[in-house]
Amino acid sequence: MLHEVSAAVGAITRHLSVHQVLEVIVSSARRLVGADYAAIGIPDDEGGFAEFITDGIGEEQRLKIGPLPRQHGMLAAILAESEPIRLDDLRRDPRFQWWPKAHPSMAALLGVPIQECGRTLGIVVLTNDLGRPGFSESDTELIELLASHAAIAITNARLYERSRELTVVEERNRLARELHDAVMQRLFSLRLSARAARKLAPTDPEAAACRLGEVEDLAAEAIAELRAVIVELRPADLDAHGLVETLRRHVTLLDRLHDTEVAFEVRSPVDLSRDGEVEVLRLVQEALSNAFRHARARHVAVTVQSERITISDDGDGFDADEAATRGLGLLSMRERAKALGGDLDLRTAPGAGTTVTLILDTAEPAEAERD
Ligand SMILES: Nc1ncnc2c1ncn2[C@@H]1O[C@H](COP(=O)(O)OP(=O)(O)OP(=O)(O)O)[C@@H](O)[C@H]1O
Ligand SMILES: [Mg+2]
Repeated sequence: MLHEVSAAVGAITRHLSVHQVLEVIVSSARRLVGADYAAIGIPDDEGGFAEFITDGIGEEQRLKIGPLPRQHGMLAAILAESEPIRLDDLRRDPRFQWWPKAHPSMAALLGVPIQECGRTLGIVVLTNDLGRPGFSESDTELIELLASHAAIAITNARLYERSRELTVVEERNRLARELHDAVMQRLFSLRLSARAARKLAPTDPEAAACRLGEVEDLAAEAIAELRAVIVELRPADLDAHGLVETLRRHVTLLDRLHDTEVAFEVRSPVDLSRDGEVEVLRLVQEALSNAFRHARARHVAVTVQSERITISDDGDGFDADEAATRGLGLLSMRERAKALGGDLDLRTAPGAGTTVTLILDTAEPAEAERD
């Protein structure tokens, strides 16, 4: 039995989100004592439960039972006690009030508070169907042992969730600082050079041209810096699943969100550097967002074939020359394709749909293009 407790505890501590920890606790508790039902409840400050997770009750029945219980009757009693409550027939206890219509008829009950430093974090409740035996003293000890580990696991998981939230905020601040340091300074100098050029132009065109050369250089530097910062904004999905899977997820999500059908097909794999993956992802996202915002398409397809990624739609199409000045999307797609050492092929005409193809000639991004 102790072995089972320690296995359960191991499983609990491996999980990092509070919700997952609770799920493992509730199923471990039920298994440890062979109960028909188990529940774990984490109270909120408003007389209800922030979480109430059950095991042993099917999805359908849970829907029938209705909303989460409140802190009343027997649940309130277990929350208020510092000692376990063990009953052979909970319905005979004066603290029992009622349960909803579709609730299973339970008799034997074992309720154990999850305590930390004298505070009750939650409760574990085990019950058996009517006619089944009650819980024993050793069941109680096992669940108390589990509950003491659960308290630590819940506290750790909460701390971990909190620290992750903090990390995100810190990360955002760091990027803001970096953007400011690297890009703002260049933009300020750029403005000064542009102003000087404007003043010099009427009287000294040669000096003005020289200043305009500076403007060009500074703009190129700002683009390079900005790109470097953006590359750092690497979507977490890419690290976890890689480019192809991240694209697939993005497409699946769009397909679910919109009426337009979006298909994803990989004919052969792509091999890209870490930075390259981010550029490709952003490029495909922009092409897809254009297809959804402008094309009124019925079908959109993303196809990956070795060195080519194609995004096509059967929508309105457009006049590419005329559209070139309208937004930044097409421009940034071309820039990204170039930075990847590749090319962007745009095929479109009014009424004929649009096909954007990223052609990756080499797997390495062309560094020379970057500055
Ligand atoms: N798939 C498409 N189908 C129909 N029209 C498109 C499509 N892609 C782009 N266009 C047209 O080309 C124009 C320019 O696209 P671009 O992505 O450069 O800018 P935008 O989408 O308007 O703005 P931004 O991308 O900067 O938010 C669009 O305004 C739209 O008229
Ligand atoms: Mg766009």
